[in-house]
Amino acid sequence: MVLSAGSKKIKTAVFISGTGSNLKNLIKFSKLKKSPISISLIISNNKKAKGLRFAKIFKIKKKILNFANKKTTFKELLLLLKKNNIHLICLAGFMKILPKNFIKNFKGKILNIHPSLLPKFKGLNTHERAINKKEKYSGCTVHFVTSKLDSGEIILQKKVKIKKNDTEKSLAKRILFQEHKLYPKAIMKIFTL
Ligand code: GRF
Repeated sequence: MVLSAGSKKIKTAVFISGTGSNLKNLIKFSKLKKSPISISLIISNNKKAKGLRFAKIFKIKKKILNFANKKTTFKELLLLLKKNNIHLICLAGFMKILPKNFIKNFKGKILNIHPSLLPKFKGLNTHERAINKKEKYSGCTVHFVTSKLDSGEIILQKKVKIKKNDTEKSLAKRILFQEHKLYPKAIMKIFTL
């Protein structure tokens, strides 16, 4: 077990870059009595990220960071996380790669959701690659984040059948539906092991 849930909920930051459907889903999950996490910070590298609207809707603190200077930005981010007592980071469509030094400070406390059955199709354009390779199944994976891209220990996976006429879009939609179930399940799993 990497983390343990005390009586108080674990302060969590969600990092996003885009739509934020996983963020919205995690916020809803965090409000359940059984949820071990509370979401108290939203981080985005993209000021136009649609998901940022959930900060306002759910009254959660947000911070938009410009990663032009990576070194100083990650330093600033680390301070911000410490100041806000963050003990868990959930990456949800965050398009920046976290440097080793940053990860070291949150060892075993950073999770990511990836839209493929890892170790298959690390990186981007997973649905397109799965379809082109004529895979029978794709799916999604929640895993711990290490300095190797999409390679940390797998917490949970869900298989999704690829249909004959699937397009990137139709497959992405079905997988995203499963992602919304899988992320909370994976969080429950690591806190109840
Ligand atoms: C999801 O498919 C997630 O697996 C991937 O990026 C997408 C983010 O979607 N890492 P959303 O912003 O949560 O809607």
